[in-house]
Amino acid sequence: MKVLLILYSAGKHAADEPKLLGCTENELGIRKWLESQGHTLVTTSHKDGPNNDLDKHIVDSDIVITTPFHPGYITKERIDKAKKLKLLVVAGVGSDHIDLDYINKSDKKISVLEVTGSNVVSVAEHVVMTMLVLVRNFVPAHEMIMRGDWDVAEVAKDTYDLENKVIATVGCGRIGYRVLERLVSFNPKELLYYDYQALPKEAEEKVGAKRVIDLEELLGKADVVTINCPLHDGTKGLFNKQLISKMKKGAWLVNTARGAICVAEDVAEAVQSGQLRGYGGDVWNVQPAPKDHPWRKMANKYHAGNAMTPHVSGTSLDAQIRYAQGTKDILESFLSGKKDYKQKDVILLDGHYITKAYGEHKK
Ligand SMILES: *[C@@H]1O[C@H](CO)[C@@H](O)[C@H](O)[C@H]1NC(C)=O
Repeated sequence: MKVLLILYSAGKHAADEPKLLGCTENELGIRKWLESQGHTLVTTSHKDGPNNDLDKHIVDSDIVITTPFHPGYITKERIDKAKKLKLLVVAGVGSDHIDLDYINKSDKKISVLEVTGSNVVSVAEHVVMTMLVLVRNFVPAHEMIMRGDWDVAEVAKDTYDLENKVIATVGCGRIGYRVLERLVSFNPKELLYYDYQALPKEAEEKVGAKRVIDLEELLGKADVVTINCPLHDGTKGLFNKQLISKMKKGAWLVNTARGAICVAEDVAEAVQSGQLRGYGGDVWNVQPAPKDHPWRKMANKYHAGNAMTPHVSGTSLDAQIRYAQGTKDILESFLSGKKDYKQKDVILLDGHYITKAYGEHKK
C-alpha cells in the first residue's frame, strides 16, 4: 500500500529533539515499521500552491495521514482525484480540514479516523495558560524586561486576577470540561458552559458548572470566554461582530478550537476598540497563517491584547508520543484487515458517519 503523510517540517529542530515525532524528518516514527511490511511511505510538508506534493501523491495513495497543525486540506477536488484512497487518519483531533459531508454523500468507501483524546490535556493546559497570560498581562510585562525597561505601573494598570471572574466555555466536551476542571482551583465567581447537550449531573457538580442554554446570555455574563467546540457549518464564523458585541465590554476571548469559528477581521476590530480586552489562542483560519494576518499584530490600549501562538497547543512532545502511537494503532488495525478500531476514533466508516451523536454534534 502507498501511504502519504503530511506533516510540518522541523529542519534543524528535528535533530535537536528526536521526540519531535510529528515532523517530516521523524515521520511519527512509522517509516521502518511500514517498509518492513512492504508498504511505501511518502512524507511531505508541501500541501498548498502550484505543483504541491499532496495533489500529486493523493492520486494513487491508499492511505493519507494529516494533522490539524499543518493541515493537508482534503477537499472535494482532492477526494475525486484520490482513486485508491481507503483511509484518512488524522494524527491528532479535529477533522474539519477534510470534507466529511462530501465523502458521506458520495459512494466512496473512505474511512476517516482521528486519535481521539490524544491531546485534550495539552490543549486544556494551553487554554488555562492563555487565560492567565491575558488576564495577568504577562506578554507586555515580559517584553518590558527583555527590552531592559522597568515600569511596574505600566503593566499593573492592566493586570487582573483570574479569581472571582465569571468564566465560560462554548463547547464542553473532552477539552472544555478539562478546562473547567483545571479552573476550579482558581476560585472563579462562576463557571458556565454552553453545549448542545448537558453534562451528566455528577460532572456538573464536580466542577460546580452551570449550563446556559442561550449563547448570548452566556456571553453577556462572562469575563473570560473560551471556545472549545468543533468547527462545522453551524460554528463557522460564529464569533462575528454581532456576537462579539453581545460579550461584556472588555472581556477576554481564548480560542484554541479552530480559527474559522471566529471572523478574523471582526476579532481584530474588537481588540482594537477594546470591546475585547484581549484575544489569545493558537488556531488560525489558514495555516500557516500569512505574514499579514490581522491576528499577528492586533493590539489595543490594554497592552495584553494579543496572546497568539502558532498552532502548537495540541502538539506538545507528550501529545506527539500519544498521537504517533494512536496513528500506528489505527494503521495496524487497517493493514491487518481486522479494522477493530476504537469506536471513539471513528468519524466515517467505509464512507459514512457512524454515530448519531456525531451527526448531532454538527448541528
Ligand atoms: C450522510 O449520508 C446519508 C446517506 O447516505 C444521509 O442520510 C445523511 O444525511 C448524511 N449525513 C450528513 C451529515 O451529511
